[in-house]
Amino acid sequence: MESTGQIARCRLLILDDEELFRQAAALFADIARKAVDRKGVFYVALSGGSTPKKLYSLLAERYKDSIPWSDTQIFFGDERCVPPDDPESNYRMINEALLSKTDIPTSNIHRMKGEVNPHTAAAEYECELAKAFHLTGDEIPEFDLMLLGMGEEGHTASIFPGSGALFDETRLTVPNYVEKLDSYRLTLTPPVIKNAGHIVVLVTGEKKADALKHALSDAYNPKSYPIQIVRHTKGRVTWMVDPSAAAYIKDTADVCAFC
Ligand code: 6PG
Repeated sequence: MESTGQIARCRLLILDDEELFRQAAALFADIARKAVDRKGVFYVALSGGSTPKKLYSLLAERYKDSIPWSDTQIFFGDERCVPPDDPESNYRMINEALLSKTDIPTSNIHRMKGEVNPHTAAAEYECELAKAFHLTGDEIPEFDLMLLGMGEEGHTASIFPGSGALFDETRLTVPNYVEKLDSYRLTLTPPVIKNAGHIVVLVTGEKKADALKHALSDAYNPKSYPIQIVRHTKGRVTWMVDPSAAAYIKDTADVCAFC
């Protein structure tokens, strides 16, 4: 089933899982090729968790020879504060599902170092961003594609409800203490996320239905639903959700015209 709600610069696609990940992979490849054709480089920030694993596997399976990996710069939207070989590591999941199956140069993979002190790792990542994007002064990197997921309570990247990262408008990457997890995470900040040319939010499963309804329909309240920060992106937003996650979205009238 597919239903689209065309809102200015924003799309809501409700797709069965197989079609959702097929279209997500095709969109990823299209944005990559157009970015490289236009400026010789494709900057992408990948999301972690479990949802995007199917996308990464599909990219490895169907696009490993057609995406310009040598001109692709891979960054991470967030990372758990664990070593790169830890089962919880987003890098480990993404490397196993995708990166290790492509010929992308290792120098193009910019890992958040979950194994070091979070404050040090965040500062180092900001240097990594500045170098790769050739930033000067207080410039903000502009990703061609920012892949995001959404937690059951509406977090995105590692920006959780009420957490400090939500209010950081000056840094590019921060260590974010997450009370409910009693642990630190590393995360890109809202200014970086909102500066992306295209944000794709992948949401599947009935457990996300309540948060998705609030995220798409409620008045702007990112303290409760951090994913709502995408409403203020300067680029495009494509929500790709499955029918289970969209259970409370009866039609596009339920989706406020927030883009
Ligand atoms: C992470 C992610 C996070 C994720 C959501 C959804 O490190 O966990 O970056 O923002 O997108 O938590 O996770 P699932 O896809 O596992 O439901």
